[in-house]
Amino acid sequence: ATIHDQKLVRGSGGELHQIAEGDVPVLTTAQGGPVADDQNTLKIGERGPALIDDFHFREKIFHFDHERIPERVVHARGYGAHGFFETYDSLAAYTRADIFQRAGERTPVFVRFSTVAGSKGSFDLARDVRGFAVKFYTKEGNWDLVGNNIPVFFIQDAIKFPDVIHSVKPEPDRAFPQAQSAHDNFWDFISLTPESMHMVMWVMSDRAIPRSFRFMQGFGVHTFRLVNAKDESTFVKFIWKPKLGMQSVVWNEAVKINGADPDFHRRDLWNAIQSGDFPEWELNLQLFDQEFADNFDFDVLDPTKIIPEEILPPVAVGRLVLDRMPDNFFAETEQVAFMTQNVPPGIDFSNDPLLQGRNFSYLDTQLKRLGGPNFTHIPINAPKCPFAHFQQDGHMAMRNPVGRVNYQPNSWNEGPRESPQKGFPAFADQVEGQRARLRAESFADHYSQARQFFISQTATEQRHIVMALTFELSKCENPVIRERMVSHLLNVDETLGAAVADKLGIEQLPEPADAAVRPRDDLPASPALSI
Ligand code: HEM
Repeated sequence: ATIHDQKLVRGSGGELHQIAEGDVPVLTTAQGGPVADDQNTLKIGERGPALIDDFHFREKIFHFDHERIPERVVHARGYGAHGFFETYDSLAAYTRADIFQRAGERTPVFVRFSTVAGSKGSFDLARDVRGFAVKFYTKEGNWDLVGNNIPVFFIQDAIKFPDVIHSVKPEPDRAFPQAQSAHDNFWDFISLTPESMHMVMWVMSDRAIPRSFRFMQGFGVHTFRLVNAKDESTFVKFIWKPKLGMQSVVWNEAVKINGADPDFHRRDLWNAIQSGDFPEWELNLQLFDQEFADNFDFDVLDPTKIIPEEILPPVAVGRLVLDRMPDNFFAETEQVAFMTQNVPPGIDFSNDPLLQGRNFSYLDTQLKRLGGPNFTHIPINAPKCPFAHFQQDGHMAMRNPVGRVNYQPNSWNEGPRESPQKGFPAFADQVEGQRARLRAESFADHYSQARQFFISQTATEQRHIVMALTFELSKCENPVIRERMVSHLLNVDETLGAAVADKLGIEQLPEPADAAVRPRDDLPASPALSI
């Protein structure tokens, strides 16, 4: 090909390059100007001074100076892959969402796994929660299921999110420790926040050091709604189950692996996918109605509670296969913007106060992190279905409304129109109540499910929990905080509390923490622990 009489060759990505001597592409500036010398700045004489009219030098350094964008305020370290979701059977009885209408239908997805607390350059095998965020590019727009590998969360109300995250991150004066849980601030906050006890049990368990992303479960955590074509709503919890089963490493292994290969989880996913060994998960739903919700022991809007699978067995409705690594880590994995509020018609929210806060937070944070309102113009975030709206301008606008019309209603019969049939009619939930800063009584039992989790573990797994709590709390220097934690553990399970106290050298057992609701005593006690 030739442009302006210059001979051109195609580069590996299909782009056109000018030919340099020896038949290689010519290096150009971002403006396309060929570069004669990329080794030396423009100077007066051999020894300078350098000249400001060296536009190639200035452009090159300016661009380098701006390479970094803010890392995610949480979940900074992550790794993503492309794949597809395949629907097993029509779920039309429950939801009008197009993605669930046809058996065998495949929908492209992008998935990002992450740790929560560490910075972008932290090591993979930290004891931490893992993010499991899935962007489905459906025919009705993007659906983001932004979940974790643990089915509950630390807090019940999003207003506490900055506090729990501040407490987990390095302390502001000394900027350490990096390790999430091993410090006074974290245990101080946790010990003053009894609603976190259930989550703490999971985080101190083997779940928090997965062998790889391929061996992890994922959870949407909150109760969501499915809404069918007749506007009937069914509550739903989303669960991903890995085909490979679940596996973890033990702490000693994690410490060694972190030192020898801090990229262990990344490398595992890269190697598996590059060698054609595509990881798979099944999407399971726990479906229930208002009557189940009213009769369940706990509040289904409380994100610190699960609905046990023995009570409500999950149903597999489709599979997720990851089969392609991104071409470019930054363009895709770093710039992907997940947002809980991205739902297609037929999937709706519940009044879980944590979910509602998230629905505000994610849009806000993407605006900051990705530098403006046009982050949906970045290919990884753009829908893969046709879309049309009148949003325009702003930093980095790649597409603007075409033609005369950028508003509606208009008389020119141009541009998109809303569609009450196809569009997203929010479920007509009836809501009334006092306008106040309240928390429901039904959210007040902070220990029973923590106990259920602990006693559901095998003796070996229980030992690991005791060892994890002992290790983490031994890094906590303040004896008052340690004792306060033991007082909560005694409410979770007496044997657990006593074992941790013993290992920490606390001679006099504290009183069990004051609890608004005593933990249920109809649960079996755990057998004596021999550690
Ligand atoms: C990021 C999950 C609670 C704010 C993320 C990511 C996941 C996640 C998986 C990483 C997304 C990615 O890979 O890019 C969860 C879960 C929660 C929870 C499961 C509770 C059930 C919250 C709450 C807030 C919040 C309560 C705020 C009120 C954020 C922010 C980011 C984030 C600001 C960074 C987003 C970005 O810069 O891309 N969360 N989160 N999260 N989350 Fe959450």
